[in-house]
Amino acid sequence: MKITIRLIISLLFVIALVAVIFSFYQVSSEKARLTGELERRALILAESLQESVIPLVQSNSTARLNRLVERFGNRERLKGIAIFDSQGNVLASTLDLKPKIQQPFPEAVGSIAEKSRTGSFADIDGKETYIYTLPLPEEDGATGAMALFHDASYIDVRLKGIWKDNLFRFLILSVSIVAITLVVVRWSITGPIAQVAEWMRELRVGKGKINQPAISIRGDVLAPLVSEVAQMARSLAAARASAEEKARSWIHVENLWTPQRLKEHMRMELKDKKLFLVSNREPYMHVKDGHEFKYIVPAGGLVTALDPVMRICDGIWFAHGGGDGDRETVDTHDKLRVPPEDPSYTLKRIWITKEEEAGYYYGFSNEGIWPLCHITHTRPVFRLEDWVWYQKVNEKFSKAVLEEIAGEESPLILIQDYHLALLPLLVKKKRPDARVALFWHIPWPNPEAFGICPWQQEILMGMLGADLIGFHIQFHCNNFLDTVDRFLESKVDWEQFSVTREGHTTQVKPFPISVRFDGVDDRSAADLDNTPARSEILKEIGSDARYMGIGVDRIDYTKGIPERFRAIERFLEKHPEFIGQFTFIELGAPSRTHIKRYHDLMAEVEETVDRVNWKFQVKGWKPIVFLKAHHSHDAINRYYKIADICMVTSLHDGMNLVAKEFIASRDDGDGVLILSQFAGASRELRDAIIINPYDIEGMADAIHLSLTMEPQERTGRMGRMRVAVRENNIYRWAGDLITTLARLRSADGAE
Ligand code: G6P
Repeated sequence: MKITIRLIISLLFVIALVAVIFSFYQVSSEKARLTGELERRALILAESLQESVIPLVQSNSTARLNRLVERFGNRERLKGIAIFDSQGNVLASTLDLKPKIQQPFPEAVGSIAEKSRTGSFADIDGKETYIYTLPLPEEDGATGAMALFHDASYIDVRLKGIWKDNLFRFLILSVSIVAITLVVVRWSITGPIAQVAEWMRELRVGKGKINQPAISIRGDVLAPLVSEVAQMARSLAAARASAEEKARSWIHVENLWTPQRLKEHMRMELKDKKLFLVSNREPYMHVKDGHEFKYIVPAGGLVTALDPVMRICDGIWFAHGGGDGDRETVDTHDKLRVPPEDPSYTLKRIWITKEEEAGYYYGFSNEGIWPLCHITHTRPVFRLEDWVWYQKVNEKFSKAVLEEIAGEESPLILIQDYHLALLPLLVKKKRPDARVALFWHIPWPNPEAFGICPWQQEILMGMLGADLIGFHIQFHCNNFLDTVDRFLESKVDWEQFSVTREGHTTQVKPFPISVRFDGVDDRSAADLDNTPARSEILKEIGSDARYMGIGVDRIDYTKGIPERFRAIERFLEKHPEFIGQFTFIELGAPSRTHIKRYHDLMAEVEETVDRVNWKFQVKGWKPIVFLKAHHSHDAINRYYKIADICMVTSLHDGMNLVAKEFIASRDDGDGVLILSQFAGASRELRDAIIINPYDIEGMADAIHLSLTMEPQERTGRMGRMRVAVRENNIYRWAGDLITTLARLRSADGAE
């Protein structure tokens, strides 16, 4: 309030000063104008009288002079006329005037002596009077003088009127200025300051929304302050989240797996043995970029999860070299050290022909096993020629692995996923001493569903060559054991969760895969300050909104992407107040596009985006922004960090690491995860908003619930999920898997 009073007083002072100066100037000019006018009137009258008066004065005709002045003396505002002799004494004058004129009259004396006309003001009868005196000339001097007395009191009245008017104007102006000042100050300064203060208070007690206040702050005066405070709040929230996490983790400290711990563990368990990892997809793919080569990290959970493990364990990763720059970037043994910017392990590329790729990868793996294992109503296709290529490429991989492990004693081999189901047996046949684990990254269906595969037994036998088979969740282990029980001559042990066939036992266990989790304690303050501003990102994508959602997917029919967009459409229909307020950004990486089903899906996704946008978009805002490209992890992280919600709506998914990546990225402790009940991750992330992606209405309600959730509930849920992901990170996954594998074989006596 003090500042408002100071502002008002200063304004009033300046206005008063200007008003006084202006009025003074106006009064002076008005006075000069009126006096001039009076003088002119007196002059005209005096000159017209002069001719008649001079002869009468010379002839000393007092009586006639008296009659003359009486006749002229009653003009408008003229109080009277007096005629003086050469000494300045009254010769004749209007009656009322005579007693009031001093003898000799100084103005007359002066005028005769100076032979000039004079004008002056005097108080006669308590009234301001203007006296105009002029000499009555004769040949060698003045014969006398004449004075005209005008009532000048009206000039005073007029001048006072001006002062009064200006005072009145000043008062009206002052009241208006005070009122406007109070409104403006309240509306654009003190009001917004109070709003910012309230928002800061909420942030301090951990209730507010970090990226922006719950209500929009009026005016843009405080915009820079809001952005600074948001920045500080992020750091504060990060520090708070870190402190809370640390506090929680004190209790579970022995549970926490770090890169260092995994390294130590590997040394103890494996006595520094090399790790061999085999997958179809390579972790670093070189592509031609003009005359140069650049590398990309392919999209998908497998690579995301396993690269950090290999960086720590070293060893060799075998994978199909699928990039058009891959051949040019390996040595003579088809190897290179990766990651290119920090070489930590060896990538050995396996070359397969176009024909092999068509049959093994596109055909049998992705048109056959993929839809077979994902129950999403896309019909699997099994062709004999694809099956033949599948076997051949599995053999090709086994040859490469066997060559490489030739000198190794009891090598440890981790085989990944459905592309290489036959590899465990191919390796074990030649190297029974090898310790082989197969990790299946996708779901395993029930026996009825799996039963439609014409080569079911060969696949199961190939897999059972492994000593250990891992799935993400127990449910998939159970399905697998049921399937083996149904289709193979073997002994299934439901207590040990194992299968024994032809004297070889395979353990079947869940290992929920995860992500790295760079906890806040690993990040520097500078990193925290680099959290991108939401406004920056929204500007980049060209859609301004208060709330933001994010989806990150390979464009795959298992991910429920069109369903997600339909839910956003329904949400906006049900809650039109969010039109112009909520934008969903889909970072979609094209995948397997040579397969018709994927090609059609891309068209469906684009068509749905266009349709929903067309329905709701307004200038400068659209509900869905589809960024169809391969996005790096760093680029994706920028979006994760500022999103209000992340939507994972898989129709069926082994785990889905997008859900965990989103949680791991939220070191501000904020953000809501909407997660499909059909993704393996829903078993662990109980604090997500769990949805059924086939239920569009339910998904729309989940979006609304997430966007309107109380900050405390939001951070509570996120905090608990962060603890879960932090404790069950990828280092724990690798540690568990490798330990289980190593100890299984030890029990058999093989060291
Ligand atoms: C899933 C599979 C992975 C695969 C990834 C990407 O996550 O489980 O094995 O690498 O999708 O698919 P792509 O066909 O591009 O390798």
